[in-house]
Amino acid sequence: MKIAVVGATGLVGSVMLEELSLRGFANHEIIPAASPKSVGKTIDFAGRKLTVVSPEEAIAQKPQYAIFSAGASTSRKYAPLFAEVGCTVVDNSSCWRMHDDVPLVVPEINMNAVGPNHRIIANPNCSTIQMVLAVSRLHWRYQIKRLVISTYQSITGTGIKAVRQLEAEEDYFAHHEVLSSQLGETMMQELGDQYQPAYPYQIFRNLFPHGGDFNPDGYTTEEQKLVDETRKILGDPNIQVTATVARVPVVGGHSEAVNIEFYNEYDINEVRQLITDTPGVILADDPAHNLYPMPITAHNRPEVFVGRVRRDNTQPCTLNLWCVGDNLRKGAATNAVQILERLVKKA
Ligand code: A2P
Repeated sequence: MKIAVVGATGLVGSVMLEELSLRGFANHEIIPAASPKSVGKTIDFAGRKLTVVSPEEAIAQKPQYAIFSAGASTSRKYAPLFAEVGCTVVDNSSCWRMHDDVPLVVPEINMNAVGPNHRIIANPNCSTIQMVLAVSRLHWRYQIKRLVISTYQSITGTGIKAVRQLEAEEDYFAHHEVLSSQLGETMMQELGDQYQPAYPYQIFRNLFPHGGDFNPDGYTTEEQKLVDETRKILGDPNIQVTATVARVPVVGGHSEAVNIEFYNEYDINEVRQLITDTPGVILADDPAHNLYPMPITAHNRPEVFVGRVRRDNTQPCTLNLWCVGDNLRKGAATNAVQILERLVKKA
């Protein structure tokens, strides 16, 4: 079998390669593709050296499957071209997610949305995947009316440029006694090319309530994804979702505080059991022993971790929980490769 990985040199792409090798695809033919600047470079895959090609060359090799993590514009241009040669594409960008004829899939929830004729399957946004998986069985049992979500998102969700920004800032602070507010141009001048920020502000010792771009209504694109994608994956357009996304100087994964109002009353012990029984979810909830999930809990793990499960005492049928997932793993690469695993099994 031939599997193309478009965006193979990126942060998510490299984790996709790792997941492919971990999940039984090590002996298949993997075709890594990236932008012209990377064509001809070699990358390691399961002990082999692979040469990076252009998306056009990858299409010419007629792979049966392709997984994409190369940004929305690359997906918009190339996913249909891969589909035209009979390839099934699992796309990690935001480009196709809300198209009516493209399934948006978390395999533990709605793999049944994928039909035999779907050639493009969308991988949801990282914050959506971990949250929607954590609450899925609760929705099936008690029916969610409304979600209020606050995220604390890792910089790895922005890509390599953001990781380099944080590293350059950490390095700078290790050698300078400057107040953060005095940084600005001095740091720019001293660090030169090493400092090409991905964000409008310093992220080290800082955070911003800003993920993606601002829409005219004051919400960000990352916040809107949580609204739209949750409804599509859970198949319920009536679920009310409101979100605030924050970017924090963290690398291991995204954390989310989630307030859930159900239509039906719940039993807290049953809630814990439903979370424990959700495939791919681990309940880590023992406050007496300081047990709750953190980004370092989830880092490099394929599961989503849930803790701080407790009743919201301010209104009936309402629950609070905290969930954490590695945004490069379950939030991106792991979910995409799990979709691929199931497609291959079905075929
Ligand atoms: P490259 O490394 O050659 O720029 P990240 O999100 O970590 O920045 O990674 C983005 C990924 O998408 C990289 O592998 C990048 O390749 C790839 N990419 C960007 N633009 C294109 C393009 N036009 N065609 C194919 N791959 C692209």
